[in-house]
Amino acid sequence: MRKVKNLSASLSLVCICWLGVLSLTSAFPQQQELPVSPSDGEGLKFYYFPTPDQQMEIVYNDLESLNASNIKPATKTIFLLDGFTSTATSPMNTYTKNNFSGRADVNVILVDWGSLSGAELSIGTPIEMVFSYLVAFANCATAGDRMAEFFQFLRVNGQIEFSDMTVISHSLGCHVAGAAGKRTKALFGERIGRIVGLDPAFQVTPWEQQIRLQIGDAEAVEIYHTNRDGVGDSNLATGDITMFVNGGADQPCKEEDSEIIGKCSSHSYSWQLYNFALNNDTVKACPCKGANCLCKRCSLDCSDPVRIGWYIPSDVRGSFYVSAGPME
Ligand SMILES: *[C@@H]1O[C@H](CO)[C@@H](O)[C@H](O)[C@H]1NC(C)=O
Ligand SMILES: *[C@@H]1O[C@H](CO)[C@@H](O)[C@H](O)[C@H]1NC(C)=O
Ligand SMILES: *[C@@H]1O[C@H](CO)[C@@H](O)[C@H](O)[C@H]1NC(C)=O
Repeated sequence: MRKVKNLSASLSLVCICWLGVLSLTSAFPQQQELPVSPSDGEGLKFYYFPTPDQQMEIVYNDLESLNASNIKPATKTIFLLDGFTSTATSPMNTYTKNNFSGRADVNVILVDWGSLSGAELSIGTPIEMVFSYLVAFANCATAGDRMAEFFQFLRVNGQIEFSDMTVISHSLGCHVAGAAGKRTKALFGERIGRIVGLDPAFQVTPWEQQIRLQIGDAEAVEIYHTNRDGVGDSNLATGDITMFVNGGADQPCKEEDSEIIGKCSSHSYSWQLYNFALNNDTVKACPCKGANCLCKRCSLDCSDPVRIGWYIPSDVRGSFYVSAGPME
C-alpha cells in the first residue's frame, strides 16, 4: 500500500502554501499555459461493476468489450471519479462502488485516471507534491475530454442517454467531472444529467480556475461542502444545489486518521456521508441563506426537509444546510 493515499491535512497545508507562493511568483493572469504538459489521456480506464466483485473493462470504441460487459441500456449510469493520486482501488472509489453497484436500477462505472491523477508520481517532499499536483491539474481537462468521448460512445452504442448519466466525484475528481461536462456540451450540444461534487478540491492558481466544476457543467450540479477551509473549494457559489454539511468546514471525525483506508477526515466525510445517505433516509437538509448556511451542527428547522444524496428529488435547487453526526 502506498504510504500516503490521500491528501492528508498536514501535507495539504504544505501544498496550499507552495501553490500560493507559486501563483504569486508566476506571471498571471496573462499566463494561460500550464508549466507542465498534459498527458494524452490514453491511460484512462473505465471499469463497469455489475456487482461489487465483478470488474469488467469497457474500452472506448471497442464494441466487443461493451457487448461483453452486458451493461444495462436505458438505465441511470453512475461514473465514479476520485481525486489527486487516486487509483481504481482508492477508498472513495472502493467504498462508493461497493455501495452502489449490484443495484438493479443503476449501472456503476469506475473511472480510473490513476495514470493521470498523480498516483504514479512521487509526493514525498513538498516540492514533489506541488509538482505532482500541477501535473494532475494539467491532466484534468484531458481526462475530461476522454470521458466526454466515452459518454458519446456509450450513448450511441449502449443506448444510455446523456440525461441518465451522473458523475459522482470527489476532490480533484470534481474538476475532471466539470471538464467532462463542459466538453460533452461543447462537442455534442447536450449536457449530462448530474454531477455530484463531493467536497471539490480547493483552487489556488489561475490555471485551476479555468476548469472549476460549476453551474452549467450538467443539467444539475450538486455540491457537498465538508472542508471548505482546508483542501475543499472555498468558492460557495458553484452548484445548482449546494449542501453545507455541518457548516461546510469541519466534520465530526479525526483528521489524523485520514491516511488509513476508509477512516474519516473532513474531506473524505463528503463521500462517506453520501454513501451513508444512500442507505439511511434520516439524513436531510433544510434551505439556508447567507450566513446561516455556515452554522455548525444546527438542528434542522424547516417544514419540508429534503433527503440528501442519491435520492434527492430531481427538481430540488438552492442552498441547504445539513446536520450530520459521526458515521461508524
Ligand atoms: C454480442 O454478444 C452476443 C452474445 O452475448 C453475441 O451473440 C453477439 O454476436 C455480440 N455482438 C458483437 C457486436 O460482438
Ligand atoms: C458504504 O460506504 C461506507 C463508507 O462510505 C462503508 O463504511 C460501507 O461499508 C459501505 N457499504 C457497503 C455495503 O459496502
Ligand atoms: C440512520 O441514521 C440515524 C441517525 O444517524 C440513526 O439513528 C439510525 O440508526 C440510522 N438507521 C439505519 C437503518 O442505519
